[in-house]
Amino acid sequence: MPRVYIKTFGCQMNEYDSGKMRALLGQGGYVATEDVDDADLVIVNTCSIREKPEQKLASFLGRVLPIKRRRPLTVAVAGCIAQMSGSKLLKQFPTLDLVFGPDSVGRVQSLVDAAQTRRVVDTEFHSDTASYPFPSDLDPDASGRIGALVTIQKGCDNKCTFCIVPSTRGVEVSRPIDEVLAEVRALVARGVRELTLIGQNVNSYGVKLEGHPGFAELLHRVHAVEGVEVLRYLTSHPRDMGPDVVACYRDLPRLASHLHLPVQSGSDRVLRRMKRFYTREVYLDLVRNLKAARPDLVLTTDVIVGFPGETDEDFEATMSLLEEARFEGSFSFSYSPRPGTPALRLLEDAVPPAVVSARLERFQSRQREIQLEAHASLVGHVLPVLVEGPSAHDEGVVCGRTSGFKMVNFPGSHTMMGEWVPVRITRGFANTLRGEAV
Ligand code: SAH
Ligand code: SF4
Ligand code: F3S
Repeated sequence: MPRVYIKTFGCQMNEYDSGKMRALLGQGGYVATEDVDDADLVIVNTCSIREKPEQKLASFLGRVLPIKRRRPLTVAVAGCIAQMSGSKLLKQFPTLDLVFGPDSVGRVQSLVDAAQTRRVVDTEFHSDTASYPFPSDLDPDASGRIGALVTIQKGCDNKCTFCIVPSTRGVEVSRPIDEVLAEVRALVARGVRELTLIGQNVNSYGVKLEGHPGFAELLHRVHAVEGVEVLRYLTSHPRDMGPDVVACYRDLPRLASHLHLPVQSGSDRVLRRMKRFYTREVYLDLVRNLKAARPDLVLTTDVIVGFPGETDEDFEATMSLLEEARFEGSFSFSYSPRPGTPALRLLEDAVPPAVVSARLERFQSRQREIQLEAHASLVGHVLPVLVEGPSAHDEGVVCGRTSGFKMVNFPGSHTMMGEWVPVRITRGFANTLRGEAV
């Protein structure tokens, strides 16, 4: 049987798409392999969100393409760089066989077949959004896992000035609720207990479809599916997070006590230039309302440091927001100019790289301290942990997550997998907790 090796960079959308490709290629007889040297087909699912992830493609292809000199191998580039660069990639990499964008994932098998006899590029967006084909086939890897992703939406209609996603993923399309629920039920039937609903802006789910349920109702409906023990979602936009979604934190006990709510900056001036359409005060109000609805809610965020024109004062506003919102985790990045994005016009105000790295380092080190403080305060508490499997590092240790998305390691056996185990926390590190089952 032919073997496919899929390398995935980027966000939850790519991870999910790679799973769909495994499923669709599986129907055509492909078996997934973890070993490039064993593969007949290599697909690299790419990300172009910043320059750094983009560089990973060239180094990956530099390793893989030479294999083609020794034996037959089909090599494909998928994902956001494929969408952005299209046929330019075929010129840049003369032995590359296939380039296809996120909207072509459902056609992966026929594209791979076509690429056996000629070089193929498919970066058409699916123009009829009313019939956008969300593949329903399940990732074969989802069986036997505790958690799984389910897409509820593709694309993004926002125009945050730094962001390339609207041009790589196209317009926002919500997946019909019946399809979402069918996939959730199918996953639960395979033993999945923790569902993460994904999209670039999940809070605007359904708003473009007349009479269609919105995101809060979707949460209620998924929460009601028997067997869903933990419900999570990614990613929220603060502007679109309405009171009905906030109320879900009061009303839905299996909705996880963790919310990833990207803020990007604590300065209103910068937020305006990013076109995020909320202010610091609106964001903090939302945080207060969320914590009123769910006092133990853990908040995490994304931050961009060194957006063009960011002054010391703007950056101090981001630092003070970190204290006020008390994020217990964040992804923070230096601003990376992206082709075709509106923020390129602001580049005459670019912040010097040395200033950006000093700011980033300061943000990250304070963030780390807050995490250590938050985790130290959990020592002695007993928290329910949904066990995911054996720890990757320690024999006789298992790991799992709390509702607040804290990773906990504790001595245990594989028989605990998929169980809720009450664990007394004995030590807090920056990113994980250590404990013992009680
Ligand atoms: N849809 C999500 C974000 C998707 S991109 C949202 O709106 O929150 C994930 C993160 O990458 C963003 O939150 C942002 O912090 C970061 N990011 C996006 N474009 C970037 C750029 N040009 N430079 C640096 N970071 C960027
Ligand atoms: Fe990018 Fe903004 Fe859309 Fe998020 S909401 S994907 S940051 S344009
Ligand atoms: Fe990257 Fe595309 Fe996701 S640019 S972050 S893989 S939507």
